[in-house]
Amino acid sequence: MLFKLALFLHILSAIFWIGGMLFLVLVVAPFLQSLPDPRERSKIYQTVGKKYRLYGWIAIIILLVTGPIMLYTFYGISPGAIFSRQLHASPFGKTLAVKLAFVAIIVTTSLIHDFWLGPKARSSPQFTAIAKIFGRGNLILALLIVILAVILRAGGF
Ligand code: HEM
Repeated sequence: MLFKLALFLHILSAIFWIGGMLFLVLVVAPFLQSLPDPRERSKIYQTVGKKYRLYGWIAIIILLVTGPIMLYTFYGISPGAIFSRQLHASPFGKTLAVKLAFVAIIVTTSLIHDFWLGPKARSSPQFTAIAKIFGRGNLILALLIVILAVILRAGGF
């Protein structure tokens, strides 16, 4: 029961987090490009981004909590065993290690994007360009993590 609840919350959080990023990049950003005033564009993107940031981080925290719960309740892997060499010798463990490395990278780059580059982009076109690269890079990384999650489900590579 705990596994099912954790899996439900894990998948729901991934849908919300990645869906939100796709919505920002594919729907909100192109719409804002059609606005003539760059200051208004930036103001709307900052406001929408700030709102999404809060829920996005709630989703990330849920992913980070439910992942280890699933590993323990379904696969019998305790948090301490996640970094063990013995685990990494199996296809499942190898895939898990790659997924978790990607998760560590995306958490770091999201922190930089959301709390440093994003606020700086308000007053600097250079930071806007860098924040854009980080935002898109994060989206690609998140999609790769989902691919790794599917491979994990199938037993690993
Ligand atoms: C950026 C964060 C993460 C994203 C976007 C993500 C995404 C997903 C998705 C979409 C699934 C469902 C697909 C499937 O069952 O094949 C999944 C499954 C899974 N995730 Fe994550 N995940 C993240 C973080 C984590 C973390 C931190 C852990 C563990 C420490 C973890 C462990 C697992 C496990 C064990 C499953 C497989 C459950 C099963 O066998 O069905 N995930 N993940």
